[in-house]
Amino acid sequence: MVFPMKTMIGGFAAGLLFALPAMSQDQDQVARGKYVATAADCVACHTAPGGKPFAGGLPFKTPMGTIYAPNITPDPATGIGNWTDAQFLRALHDGIGANGERLYPAFPYTAFAGISDEDALAVKAYLFSLPPSVQKNHENEMQFPYNIRFLMSFWNILNFKNSGSQSVAQQADLARGAYLADALGHCAECHSPRNLTMGVDSSKYLGGGAVDGWTAFNLSSSKGEGLGGWTTAELAQYLKTGNVAGKAQAAGPMAEVVENSTSHLSDDDLNALATFIKAVPEQAASGPDRFSFGGHPTDITGYRADAGQHASEGEQLFVAACATCHMLSGSGVKDGAYPSLFHNSVTGASNPDNLVMAVLHGVERRGSINDASMPAFEDEFDDRQVASLVNYVKDMFGNPQGKVDAAEVHRLRLNQLAPSPIDTLMKVGGGIAAAVVIIALAAFFWFRRRSTSASPQPL
Ligand code: HEC
Ligand code: HEC
Ligand code: HEC
Repeated sequence: MVFPMKTMIGGFAAGLLFALPAMSQDQDQVARGKYVATAADCVACHTAPGGKPFAGGLPFKTPMGTIYAPNITPDPATGIGNWTDAQFLRALHDGIGANGERLYPAFPYTAFAGISDEDALAVKAYLFSLPPSVQKNHENEMQFPYNIRFLMSFWNILNFKNSGSQSVAQQADLARGAYLADALGHCAECHSPRNLTMGVDSSKYLGGGAVDGWTAFNLSSSKGEGLGGWTTAELAQYLKTGNVAGKAQAAGPMAEVVENSTSHLSDDDLNALATFIKAVPEQAASGPDRFSFGGHPTDITGYRADAGQHASEGEQLFVAACATCHMLSGSGVKDGAYPSLFHNSVTGASNPDNLVMAVLHGVERRGSINDASMPAFEDEFDDRQVASLVNYVKDMFGNPQGKVDAAEVHRLRLNQLAPSPIDTLMKVGGGIAAAVVIIALAAFFWFRRRSTSASPQPL
């Protein structure tokens, strides 16, 4: 009985010998997939607050209704465990689901279309290496006619393969940076304005956009509104740590981008990404850099002597709620852990939205180098108080342009979407839009009837 045993062991060892290289190749693929999925920040959208990673459930409010990100863990019943490679590639590259249905562009497939097959399949291998989470997908709540997925094919005709960086991306030495910014990091999804049909407006590439009540600033090389006054090294530092003293910190959706995604990039990739972004042509008229406002701390501390009860509401609130960390002079603390409120791209922006959002929701960002935490004041202050505080901070430390009132704070607090062109279009032309939809559907079914009636009908 010894003989067969030996053969078995021999066979097993030989099997192992063949299996080992294959296994380490799989592990390489999984590791690569993890890096690519991190650079593309799949987890940010596919994880509900407090939920299991990649199990979906995060709502996306759009002017056309609410979309819920699906479960992309390998659970066969509720996730994508049964998906083939071809189905996965088709979803990422064409925005088409497992059953041929059109996916909504809240899933940025227009960006992911640029991901190489090899990287995309590495992402699939990584996702399939994770524990499956059983979590049923939440039904989307889209208004008619947007609940008809088929209509997305018209949207694709207008907006697909249109969101990229055009000429800059063609330069060979910028190719890696363009891949990181466009195909993976999908920076333009937030940082470019949108057109009438809510597609990324490629003619204003990285010219500034909006997301969940926050302004995603202009990243083009224009001075003033854009990053013209930043060095490549500062930009790389911002993407790695979320904090560049005297310039900017990453709060809100950008805090998540830094925490989940860009802080994990290799130094080479960070440098390639920053070099590419710095090469993006200007997208707005020049003006004073947002981070250049303020900076007269001695003048500012002067008011204290006779402030007391004569102080304005905004000033009293500032002293009570902000000065402990950001100092009475607004200078923050030296190492920038509590940042300066002058020379700060948020207080220096003419648009007050991010300052309001930071006061309402605070700042929460974990990082490998530094954690940042500022408390949220949404339960402390009412809309009027937030408005007086923000207007005081802008006057004292930042850009006095663009004051906010209580109604605007209220809108931001509820994260009500500002009326979009498409809303107006629907109100004015709802009837026309409905007619176009009905005609399109009629044409679709007419074609189907023709193609089915051409073949013999089973009885
Ligand atoms: C900006 C948010 C966002 C990001 C980033 C994102 N997704 Fe999604 N994804 C969505 C949404 C929303 C949907 C649902 C679209 C719909 O219902 O039509 C979706 C759908 C999908 C689907 C189709 C699943 C199904 O059941 O039909 C797959 C697969 C997918 N995403 C994979 C990924 C991968 C892989 C990444 C990273 C490379 C990623 N997603 C990044 C938002 C996102
Ligand atoms: C989910 C939306 C989103 C995505 C994706 C995103 N950003 Fe941002 N970004 C924002 C928001 C919002 C801010 C403003 C943050 C704040 O007020 O602190 C911001 C701020 C920034 C700033 C600071 C600008 C300034 O003047 O203060 C830089 C630089 C930046 N983003 C670069 C990038 C790059 C590069 C990418 C792609 C790799 C990217 N962002 C992807 C939403 C996004
Ligand atoms: C407990 C300390 C603390 C208090 C109190 C505090 N902050 Fe902050 N603040 C921080 C920290 C920490 C950051 C983020 C630093 C980083 O990103 O590295 C921050 C960031 C900011 C930013 C930049 C936000 C952005 O979008 O980039 C602004 C503006 C700001 N604070 C204003 C205020 C105002 C106004 C108040 C009073 C209502 C206040 N802070 C109270 C600690 C504090």
